[in-house]
Amino acid sequence: MKTIDLRSDTVTLPSPAMREAIFNAELGDDVFGEDPTTNRLEQMAAERMGKEAALMVVSGTMANLVCVLSHCRRGEEVILGDRSHTFLYEAGGMSAVGGVHPHTIPNQPDGTLRLEDIEAAIRGNNLHFPRTRLICLENTHNRCYGSALTVEYMEAVAELAKKRGLRVHLDGARIFNAAVALGVDVKEMACHADSVAFCLSKGLSAPVGSLVCGSGEFVAEARRNRKVLGGGMRQCGIIAAAGITALEQMTKRLTEDHANARRLADGIADIQGLSVEPERVQTNIVYFDLASEKLTAEAFLKRLIEQSVKVIQLGPARFRAVTHYGISAEDIELALAALRKTMDES
Ligand SMILES: Cc1ncc(COP(=O)(O)O)c(C=O)c1O
Repeated sequence: MKTIDLRSDTVTLPSPAMREAIFNAELGDDVFGEDPTTNRLEQMAAERMGKEAALMVVSGTMANLVCVLSHCRRGEEVILGDRSHTFLYEAGGMSAVGGVHPHTIPNQPDGTLRLEDIEAAIRGNNLHFPRTRLICLENTHNRCYGSALTVEYMEAVAELAKKRGLRVHLDGARIFNAAVALGVDVKEMACHADSVAFCLSKGLSAPVGSLVCGSGEFVAEARRNRKVLGGGMRQCGIIAAAGITALEQMTKRLTEDHANARRLADGIADIQGLSVEPERVQTNIVYFDLASEKLTAEAFLKRLIEQSVKVIQLGPARFRAVTHYGISAEDIELALAALRKTMDES
């Protein structure tokens, strides 16, 4: 029986076209700048984001870290959300590796940071304070229901940053999900950030890789910082090839994942003992809660696994389900049936 794995869109496997592209990739030594497939992917990524240049790195975590290291020096400060991936789940890399100080402010439920909170977090010119250098946004926002931050909101943050002499980094791990949900081109969001990181290995289903995009000068610095982290790769066209296929073939189909997430949320809303806010679901991420005393979270997960359905636990009674390539509308119906059965039998 097929496992319906809804834990994350990172569990996606490469498409047959990606495997073919990997097999046929033209290769060279990328540290010498001689891997033609990687060069092509980087050029494509820069064009897609409307930036001068791009750099492939191994992961979203490395992409964000390389960007922070390229914007900030030791002792400088980054303003970011308290539910941002960079703050919660990247092993404190900016301080561990870069000596950069994270200054968190509350993420609103829709993933935004209030402009007045950003303004209030910017340090004055005082020798006691770290120097504020960077504002980080996340779009779509993983821990905030996969919400898409609007172009207007990003523009407002960019204006504030410009007025205060700060830079903006966008963790756009799922920027294509945001673009599809908002019905805009990714460039319309990317133009409001000095640097953009996006992932190939989430909704776009490539096996490995993320891209850092920005000005030529910024990407040259990012390339140096990637080397510092040991992230210079040799014949990495082997992974870039799948990335090219991802950009060519996998961005438009994200609407399917969004429709499946909505189907899932609407279905969960009708199951007694589970609670969800379907109106919050804009993209491919659904958060829901176990609202019944009859079943522990562990027993709930175990019963789902017995029915070949996986979701991830992200709080005492909070779970996340993510739709992705390889999950069909029929799989969603099967997952809902498993959830219904679990709750009916509890
Ligand atoms: C918003 C966001 N940023 C960054 C990352 C990190 O990506 P990676 O797992 O490739 O390091 C993730 C991973 O899920 C994410 O959701």
